[in-house]
Amino acid sequence: MIDLRKLEHLGVTSSSEDGDIHNNDAFFFLENCPAHRYEAIITDPPYEIGIAGKDWDCKKLRIDVLAYQFHRVLKPSGNVFVFCSDFQFGDWYRELSRYFTKLRKFAWCKTDSVGFNKGMFQESFELGLHVCSEDSYFGTEKRKNYVVSGKTSGKERLMPDPDEKWSTKKGEKSLHPTQKSLEVIESLVTSLSKEGDTIFDPFSGTGTLGVAAKTLGRRFEMVEYGFRYHIAAWDRILGKE
Ligand SMILES: C[S@@+](CC[C@H](N)C(=O)[O-])C[C@H]1O[C@@H](n2cnc3c(N)ncnc32)[C@H](O)[C@@H]1O
Repeated sequence: MIDLRKLEHLGVTSSSEDGDIHNNDAFFFLENCPAHRYEAIITDPPYEIGIAGKDWDCKKLRIDVLAYQFHRVLKPSGNVFVFCSDFQFGDWYRELSRYFTKLRKFAWCKTDSVGFNKGMFQESFELGLHVCSEDSYFGTEKRKNYVVSGKTSGKERLMPDPDEKWSTKKGEKSLHPTQKSLEVIESLVTSLSKEGDTIFDPFSGTGTLGVAAKTLGRRFEMVEYGFRYHIAAWDRILGKE
């Protein structure tokens, strides 16, 4: 029997009635994606800061191309939300403002931040950007542009499988260094989409967006080129992890 976990599977799709994960390159997928397909895009692309030494976070991200493609594949009354690093925020704002009339910064305020640099404020929130058009859906009473929640930890945090050599790097405790809090993603899904909508995440990592979408009665479409993250996300969506 072929062990799917031990091979690279560019082009493989995991499908269910709740949604799909494509093992693919986000740019290739977007180029081939039909226009006006999604009601919302909620995504957490690479930050370009080499987080935890990961190759995928070191490359130059073509934010201009992503902004164009996000607008193209989004339905006209849809919403886009991107998490980004401090360095990228201006680029995302500038590029998305070519296509969207409404733009608002957003913060995930972490209640349990640790670490201290003498003479500086403690780093305790992550930046995001919400953009949309004049008639876009906004489905919540919550109007503040921040959400307060702890970091992803405890049972929610995915750990590498100790029996799988491929999944464990020495010294690496969690499976994915930037797994987002389910509480945060659920709050974005509720605000930016309706039940039955399809939400897209082209940089899905451990599939937090898919888990939130399924729980809240939305469909998901996700793209991730790291096959071990794809598998972990799929196990998580099926409730196996
Ligand atoms: C910041 S992480 C997303 C983490 C996710 N929000 C979660 O909760 O697990 C970005 C992900 O994008 C993937 N990635 C980077 N470049 C990609 C590309 N060109 N195509 C597809 N996936 C890519 C990386 O492997 C990484 O898992």
